[in-house]
Amino acid sequence: MIVLGVESSCDETGLALYDTERGLLSHALHSQVAMHEEYGGVVPELASRDHIRRALPLLEQALTTAGVTKESIDAIAYTQGPGLAGALLVGSSVACSLGLALDKPVLGVHHLEGHLLSPLLASERPEFPFIALLVSGGHTQLMRVDGVGRYTLLGETLDDAAGEAFDKSAKLLGLGYPGGPAISRLAEFGDPAAYTLPRPMLHSKDFNFSFSGLKTAVLTVVKKHETDIANICEQDKANIARGFVDAIVDVLVAKCVSALKHTGLTRLVIAGGVGANRQLRAALDAAAVRKRFKVYYPELEFCTDNGAMIAFAGALRLERNPQAAQRDYAFNV
Ligand code: KG4
Ligand code: ZN
Repeated sequence: MIVLGVESSCDETGLALYDTERGLLSHALHSQVAMHEEYGGVVPELASRDHIRRALPLLEQALTTAGVTKESIDAIAYTQGPGLAGALLVGSSVACSLGLALDKPVLGVHHLEGHLLSPLLASERPEFPFIALLVSGGHTQLMRVDGVGRYTLLGETLDDAAGEAFDKSAKLLGLGYPGGPAISRLAEFGDPAAYTLPRPMLHSKDFNFSFSGLKTAVLTVVKKHETDIANICEQDKANIARGFVDAIVDVLVAKCVSALKHTGLTRLVIAGGVGANRQLRAALDAAAVRKRFKVYYPELEFCTDNGAMIAFAGALRLERNPQAAQRDYAFNV
C-alpha cells in the first residue's frame, strides 16, 4: 500500500510517499523560514498562500523521486491539526481534491502523532512500549506509548512549549527566527558558570513543565545590562544563551528520567523540532549511559515538520484499520 502524506500545519510544506512494504519512497519539503524571517515569526496569511503555491510542484517532485504515478497511490493522509487554520485548510483541500479526483480514500492525521511516530522511520526503531518526549514549537508532552494509537499523556507544559521558549529567548537575545538552532549554536561558546538560570518544576513530583518563567529570567538578565541588547558583547550573549540552554536541557532530561523510573520502561523516544538540539541529545545520551536506558531520535530531517511523518503515521493507522481512510471529501481540520 502506498500512502501519500501531506503536511501544511505551519511553515513547512511537505509531501511524501510511504510504501508499507518498501518503506519511505520519497519526501519533498519546502521551508518558508526565509519568507517569515523578516517578520520575526510566522505570518499565517503568507504561510497559507505559500502552501498553495508549493503543494502541487512538491507532489510532482515526490512522485518523480519515488518513480511512481499518482494512480498508484492507495490512500492520502493529511495533517488535520493542530496548526494554523488557513495553512491546515490548504493541506486538507489538496488531499481531499486529490482523493476525489483519483477516487482514493483520505485520512486526517493528528500532527503530534506524526511527530511521535517519526523516530520509527529511523533505521534503528524502538520497540513498544516506550516513553516519548515530544518537544516542538507548539507542544511539550511526556507520553507513555504502548502501540500505534495507544498513548497515555503523563505530563505537559503548563504554559510555553520548549520550542517556544527557545524561540522567545533567542528573540530577547536579538537572534533571528526560528531561534532554537541559533541560540543552540551561540550557547556552544558560552561559559556555563556565568549565569545559572532557574530550572522551573525540576523537583515537582509530576511530569509537567513550565517554561515561561525561564524566558522571563532571560529577559531579566538582558535588562540588568540596562542597555540595548545590541550593546551586549557577543561573549555575554553566548553566556546567557548557555545559561538558558543548560537550564531547559536539565529540566527536560530530569523529567524523562523520572518518567522512565515511574513506569519502569527502559526506552525513551524523542520527537519534534527541539529533538534536533545537540545539547539536549548529548545530555540525554549521557543520562542513558548513567541510568541504563536507551534513547532513540528521529533522523535530523524528520525532527521538524515534514510530510514523511504524516505519510508514515497514516500508513500505520491504515495497517491497523483499513476503514480509517474514507471517501468523504469534506474538508475537516
Ligand atoms: O516540530 P516543529 O518543526 O514544529 C512544531 O510542530 O511546532 O518544531 C519547531 C520548533 C521551533 O520552536 C524551533 O526553534 C525548534 O523546534 N528547533 C530547535 C532546534 N531546531 C528546531 N530548538 C532547539 N535546538 C534546535 N537545534
Ligand atoms: Zn510540528
